[in-house]
Amino acid sequence: MCGIVGYVGKRDAYEILIKGLHRLEYRGYDSAGIALISDNNDLVVYKTKGKVINLENHTADLNRSGKIGIAHTRWATHGEPNDINAHPHFSGSKSLALIHNGIIENYKPLKEELIAQGKTFVSDTDTEVLIQLIEYIQESHNCDLFTAVQMALNSVVGAYAIAIINKNDPETMIVARKGSPLIIGIGEDDFFIGSDATPIVEYTDKVIYLEEEQIAKINLKEGLKITDLKNIETTPIINKLNINISQLEKAGYEHFMLKEIFEQPESLINTLKGRLKIDTKEVKLSGIIDNVEKFRKARRIIICACGTSWHAALIGKYIIEELARIPVEVEYSSEFRYRNPIIYDDDIVIAISQSGETADTLAAIVLAKSKGAFLFGICNVVGSSIPRATHSGAYTHVGPEIGVASTKAFTAQLSTLFLIALSIAHERKTISNEYFESLVDELQTIPDKIREILKLNEQIKNFAKTFTYAKNFIYLGRGYNYPVALEGALKLKEISYIHAEGYPAAEMKHGPIALIDEELPVVVIATKNGNYDKIVSNIEEIKARKGYVISIVTKGDTQVKNISNFSFEIPDTADCFVPILSVIPLQLLSYHIATAKNRDVDQPRNLAKSVTVE
Ligand code: G6P
Repeated sequence: MCGIVGYVGKRDAYEILIKGLHRLEYRGYDSAGIALISDNNDLVVYKTKGKVINLENHTADLNRSGKIGIAHTRWATHGEPNDINAHPHFSGSKSLALIHNGIIENYKPLKEELIAQGKTFVSDTDTEVLIQLIEYIQESHNCDLFTAVQMALNSVVGAYAIAIINKNDPETMIVARKGSPLIIGIGEDDFFIGSDATPIVEYTDKVIYLEEEQIAKINLKEGLKITDLKNIETTPIINKLNINISQLEKAGYEHFMLKEIFEQPESLINTLKGRLKIDTKEVKLSGIIDNVEKFRKARRIIICACGTSWHAALIGKYIIEELARIPVEVEYSSEFRYRNPIIYDDDIVIAISQSGETADTLAAIVLAKSKGAFLFGICNVVGSSIPRATHSGAYTHVGPEIGVASTKAFTAQLSTLFLIALSIAHERKTISNEYFESLVDELQTIPDKIREILKLNEQIKNFAKTFTYAKNFIYLGRGYNYPVALEGALKLKEISYIHAEGYPAAEMKHGPIALIDEELPVVVIATKNGNYDKIVSNIEEIKARKGYVISIVTKGDTQVKNISNFSFEIPDTADCFVPILSVIPLQLLSYHIATAKNRDVDQPRNLAKSVTVE
């Protein structure tokens, strides 16, 4: 969602900010803007609806000088996406400019109070209320800006990451966070800010992750001062970034999504590295080892997640229950957090989140923590909010995922869940040593098997062109392949805007079968595992109604192939690892249908990569 970038230093800020905005585009946005204190000491704000390139065109002949500035990509919440509602927002006197991620929930009463005090507003946003409030406090209390920001933040309800610059103090930026991430990069003789590391990594690998309810004054000469909202000062911890700039480039691929699909063999090796020990036949996940008693004795595991991560969670349930024999419940974070769930103190709550910032998942674990559960995070973005809020966890280590539609992060979440299930099963002795060792061996072969599936790319590309006409798709699977059907359908609708639904294959008879005709493509994941015969019958039912069947089958299969209109073969593997293979052709199918329809694959309309508002 919204993205923040800022610079204070000796270089021209504009280029750094625009480049930063491009780096943040992947998060999803609908307008962009920039504020600079120009060399002749004017505070200028430029903003436009649409892409960052519009902002660049708009500013081409304007004054873009200045060594300090803030810039923003906005994903509209309060007020439609237009030039006026875009950030930055001025204060009434136009001395201050603010950018903001998050939502100020009590903006209405605050706005009414400010209007009663004579303030006027130009936009429909909650953000403008905040900057007007800050200036009003500054004027009415005759205090400095830092104090005014502290006081204002003490009276707002909601989530924010903010950055403010002040025309009257052109070497200072004030930033703060609660519920939305904010990172400060420490350069040689300058400072950078970002809502994630992508706009910063090019300039420095030294960063400070601002903590909840912290506010920082960044001054070129005095350096950094960080306090909480009660003005208690803290010494920041400087972390080292472990991403590099090449991970943020397309490396010759047409889209980040395709690059990330093709990265999967390598990214899985990174997830498994140091954790899957083939020579000693061991699985070593420090997050489990350090808390082994908790996992051994867990009464239940609850997994909270959203979107694609929720599909990974569902596969996690199947494998943990099958191997480790602990009951697992899978929850949409947004439902869990608001329904007063029953949580026991010997429950383990696992949060799965690529970004580590999804607002609902963060709130779900905060709730579970308050009820005494042990929290374990499976996240990709190092240093993000969810891993910092959990007791323990495992990073997926696949580097930045830029395409909005999750691919390599999903398969990395699956491999992490496989490792977790295997470790707990081994500890609880719920599977034999022989079976454990055979799964360890098999898991190691998965990257090569994915490589083999990726060879289908050209074939899938040619085949995909056939479906640009389709208005609907159905995806079916059973057992481990049921969540894959959900994920396949989600991938297609996210990036092609074709309506698609996934179902457990047997549920087809309870409704979706009514939709089947010659026009409706039905993707059936029919690999040779537990429910093979049942799924063959489901395909027969579709064929009897003249449905068009695209099947994903195990290499060498003839039965399903013969009754399908089109099939893609994937290598055989253990039942529980099938999803990590069967999802790959579905990722490619969605990608190629979407590109054949000329969709903006990496930044599909209305979607955000990191959903930081509920
Ligand atoms: C958004 C993204 C999805 C992602 C979901 C959950 O909707 O577009 O790709 O699966 O959020 O995000 P998380 O970062 O928590 O995995």
